[in-house]
Amino acid sequence: MARTRTRTRELYQRAQKIFPYGVNSNFRYWGEDTNVFVRGEKGYIFDADENRYIDYRLAFGPVILGHGYPAVVERVTQAIKDGGVFAATHPLEITVGERIARMTGLPKIRFANSGTEATMHALRIARAYTGREVVIKFEGCYHGFHDYLLWSTATTPRGSMGSRRSPINVPSGSGIPRVMGDLVINLPFNDFEMLERTVKARWGNIAAIIVEPVMGNSASVMPVEGWLQHIRRLCDEYGIVMIIDEVKTGFRIANGGAQEYFGVRADLATYAKSVANGFPLAAIAGTEAVMSIVGPGSVAHGGTYVGNVPGTAAADATLEILEEQDIIGSIARRGQKLIAGLDRILTDAGIPHAMMGPPQMFGFVVGIDTPPRDYRDCLTSDLELYEHIILEMIERGAIAEPDFREPWFLCYEHSDADIDETLNAYADAVKAVKQAH
Ligand SMILES: Cc1ncc(COP(=O)(O)O)c(C=O)c1O
Repeated sequence: MARTRTRTRELYQRAQKIFPYGVNSNFRYWGEDTNVFVRGEKGYIFDADENRYIDYRLAFGPVILGHGYPAVVERVTQAIKDGGVFAATHPLEITVGERIARMTGLPKIRFANSGTEATMHALRIARAYTGREVVIKFEGCYHGFHDYLLWSTATTPRGSMGSRRSPINVPSGSGIPRVMGDLVINLPFNDFEMLERTVKARWGNIAAIIVEPVMGNSASVMPVEGWLQHIRRLCDEYGIVMIIDEVKTGFRIANGGAQEYFGVRADLATYAKSVANGFPLAAIAGTEAVMSIVGPGSVAHGGTYVGNVPGTAAADATLEILEEQDIIGSIARRGQKLIAGLDRILTDAGIPHAMMGPPQMFGFVVGIDTPPRDYRDCLTSDLELYEHIILEMIERGAIAEPDFREPWFLCYEHSDADIDETLNAYADAVKAVKQAH
């Protein structure tokens, strides 16, 4: 049954000699079976041995249309013939900025190159706007690799987080200055009372509340009814900037992202993934009032590659397609079919489980049957069983992240036949795991 991965392993051995752990992002390390993919096409990726996988990782979310989507590739190819960066404004930046403003309802935009950069700049803007320094985030939410927010993220072990009533801020690894922890408060997601109590006690120092509207790094745990509106209300009442981190949800769960999906308004929102179908373009979008603080001699923002031509050309094509066709609805329909199928397979196998999240980026837990409300709840599920089933499914030609925290992402080019094939692979994987135990 196991697929041959000779060439993939050879390449990975070479990679290990150059890169720590053989990867350029810690999240890509899978031990000896670390992947080397050589190409993607539609909803598929191919490893160095030409094994084909139906791809539900989609590079952790950005590929909204499909790998190598022709209209995007063509626009990028045309645009880069005339150069890639100019240290000046390019017309494509303007078109894409206008599109993002129209689609998100936030009128002022600045670009960045990655989600990490976008959230880092959003924090600076919020701090400058409020004249305050502390930020509230939620346990299990991940906002990128900078020191400000790499605290109690989705890799934090349960045992280190302390009591739910008085959570301990845990740095996600060494090298993060301890003093940064004084600038961040971590609270459990969906806990109305704790958030309100904390804001009331400390609002004079709180610049921003940053939230992943769907916990896109913790199995797509959903905000309970009114949670995002509760954050909005507290921000309004206490002069705090509400930052909705739409890096995963933006241009994926609705054209207007979580703001549209949940009917909530951000002061600042950050985007980086589906905006350009996998090319590097990120954005900070905000209200006139908050964004007007950015500028020379006022609040620093910029970068050599910000607004680069490949990224903006890709975004121009991607957002045009999203605006003109019902891409998100079409993905949702196939996502629902996949969710229903997985749900049925797990039920038939007698495995307790809970399905979560919007169909374009859903997650699920096994071993418990109540949907988690926060990261701590997630960790009470059976992480090993989830992983074993996924590893068996990968051998059968469909790939999702073996870590339950990462949602399953769908793209426009996943077909109904792909969904059927995936469900067969998952059902066989469940059987194989049950037989082995
Ligand atoms: C919600 C969220 N914010 C920020 C980031 C960081 O984005 P990037 O990897 O582009 O730096 C991620 C990455 O997965 C994310 O999921």
